[in-house]
Amino acid sequence: MNKGLCNWRLFSLFGMMALLLAGCGKPFLSTLQPAGEVADMQYSLMLLSTSIMVLVIVVVAIIFVYVVIRFRRRKGEENKIPKQVEGSHKLEIIWTVIPIILLLILAVPTVSATFKLADVKAMNDKKRDKDTVVVNVRANQYWWEFEYPDYGIITSQDLVVPTNEKVYFNLIASDVKHSFWIPAVGGKMDTNTDNKNQFWLVFDQKATDKAGGVFYGKCAELCGPSHALMDFKVRPLPRTEFDAWVEKMQNAKKPVVTDPVAKQGEAIFNKSCIGCHAVTPVDKRPVQARTAPNLANFGDRERIAGILEHNEENLKKWLRDPNSVKPGNKMAGTYGHLTEEQIDALTKYLMSLKVE
Ligand code: CUA
Repeated sequence: MNKGLCNWRLFSLFGMMALLLAGCGKPFLSTLQPAGEVADMQYSLMLLSTSIMVLVIVVVAIIFVYVVIRFRRRKGEENKIPKQVEGSHKLEIIWTVIPIILLLILAVPTVSATFKLADVKAMNDKKRDKDTVVVNVRANQYWWEFEYPDYGIITSQDLVVPTNEKVYFNLIASDVKHSFWIPAVGGKMDTNTDNKNQFWLVFDQKATDKAGGVFYGKCAELCGPSHALMDFKVRPLPRTEFDAWVEKMQNAKKPVVTDPVAKQGEAIFNKSCIGCHAVTPVDKRPVQARTAPNLANFGDRERIAGILEHNEENLKKWLRDPNSVKPGNKMAGTYGHLTEEQIDALTKYLMSLKVE
């Protein structure tokens, strides 16, 4: 192949990779910029294991280069064979013991961190402190529900948590297996349909400020055509602001709509959408009946459908054809054709659903 062309292709490939991968280094998304106690612990383990691997590679490379140079065939010594070391007990002991030591160096902090991260005693205590924040996470194709059992409130897509303290999670799925992951804050954990997984995370206040107040959350288990679009956002707040948010959610009543267009939207909503979506954060329906995201604070959300920028245009796009935004979602096909006028009215109504 033409060498210039090949170089050019390589160059553009690396250029593309640089552009794409640069997006991974953001403080709201990157595991390499740990944003809390759990992420810190896991990051230290990553550094430790990477250092050990690099050390092994470097030592092996040095020995390899040394051997190649030292024992290469020289002029006049073509028939000379270096000293043979097969069956040397000394060498065999050395190269058995070194990996064992390296594995021990890796194992001790890993096992200790694993036990620390698995400690969810505080959340399972029957008489748990009411300040212990517990969130029931329920994953669905392709959205997230966050229920605060101690406060009696439910929200979706935007997870709100207090900063600088342990937040405990109960993880389940309602349809297929998903995986709950906030990359900057801690490793992922599966949400299963048949059992509950539990873990805790800490959201550091300084890191939250650095991330612009919002962390990105992801589904990390292939769960269908829109798996890669099953995002959520996390808004950590200082404790006092978090308490204020909880109170507002607890006291939120069914919205009083005055705008005539929004009123029209409310009527459409109450006819076609209310069977699945709720508009108050206190939702007493059993979990099986909650088949779509709770929209109580839809107007306060960070994104439309978890992925699109939060504005009226995108909401209309979503209502017009949900499948074009999230292929295979369960809302597509559940209501008949909406006219542009109806879409405008619904948009007005949905954007008026605010708690803050
Ligand atoms: Cu849910 Cu991937």
